[in-house]
Amino acid sequence: MSKAKKTYSRITTKTLQEMKANGEKISMLTAYDYTLGMLVDQAGIDVILVGDSASNVMAGHETTLPITLDQMIYHASSVVTGVKRALVVVDLPFGTYQADSKEALRSAIRIMKESGAHAVKLEGGVEVKESIERILRAGIPVMGHLGLTPQSIYKFGSYTVRAKEEQEAKQLLEEVKMLETIGCFGVVLEKIPATLAGQAAKSISIPVIGIGAGPEVDGQVLVLHDMLGMNKEFSPRFLRRYLDLDQLLIKAISQYSSDVKSLNFPNKDEQY
Ligand code: KIV
Repeated sequence: MSKAKKTYSRITTKTLQEMKANGEKISMLTAYDYTLGMLVDQAGIDVILVGDSASNVMAGHETTLPITLDQMIYHASSVVTGVKRALVVVDLPFGTYQADSKEALRSAIRIMKESGAHAVKLEGGVEVKESIERILRAGIPVMGHLGLTPQSIYKFGSYTVRAKEEQEAKQLLEEVKMLETIGCFGVVLEKIPATLAGQAAKSISIPVIGIGAGPEVDGQVLVLHDMLGMNKEFSPRFLRRYLDLDQLLIKAISQYSSDVKSLNFPNKDEQY
C-alpha cells in the first residue's frame, strides 16, 4: 500500500527516487501540445512524456518510426511552455541515436537546448549502452525503455507481450540492472508479464514505470489520447479509458455545425 502523499511543488529526477523510496506511486502521461500539457500538469501528473507516440496520435502514422527530431522538438517545446510542476521527458525518435553515441548525444542536446525539457528517454538495452553513457556524461538525465519497444516493431513483427520466455525475461532483468548501474534515473517497461515487471522493480532502486506491466511497479504511464477515449480503434487489455471523449467531441462539434446551418449561432449576445 502507498504511504501518505508528500506535496512537491516541482518534480525532479530526485523527487522520483524519493517517491519510490517512500512507496508513493508515480503518475505519468503523454502530452504533445501546450494546451493538453498544461491541463495534464494542472491535474497533478508527476511526469509528462512527450512520447514518439506523437507519430501515431498526432500525425496518424501506423508506427512511431517516421517522426523526426525537429517534430519532437516542436511538440516538446509546446508542452514545456504550459508546464509548471511536472518533469518533462522527451523521446529520442527512431534514427537519431542508434548509429553511434556521438549522434545520440547531439540529438539529446538538441532536445534539451531547443525545447527546454528536463530529460530524454530512449529505447533499448545493451545495444544503446554507450549512447546512454555519453548522454549522461553531458549531464542530461536519461530514462530507459525495455520490453515492447515500438521503434523495433519490424524486428518483433507484432505488438504482443514481450519477455514471456525465460531467456528474454533474464535478459530484461539484466538490462534493467545495467540501466540503473550506468546512471539512468528511471525505466519504462512496456507490455511484459506483471510478475516479471514486479521482480524488475524490486531489483533496482530507480523507479520502474509500467505500461501494460501490471501493478507491482513504481508508477504507470498511458498515452493521454488513449485514456481519454479519443481513439477507439486501439484497445489493448492494459488500457483503461477514463472518458469517451470521442463521443463528447463529435456531439459538441456536430451541434456547432447544426447551429451554424440553422442560424442559431451566433445569437444577438454573441456579436458586436
Ligand atoms: O511514446 C510513448 O508514448 C511511449 C509510452 C508508450 C511509454 O513511449
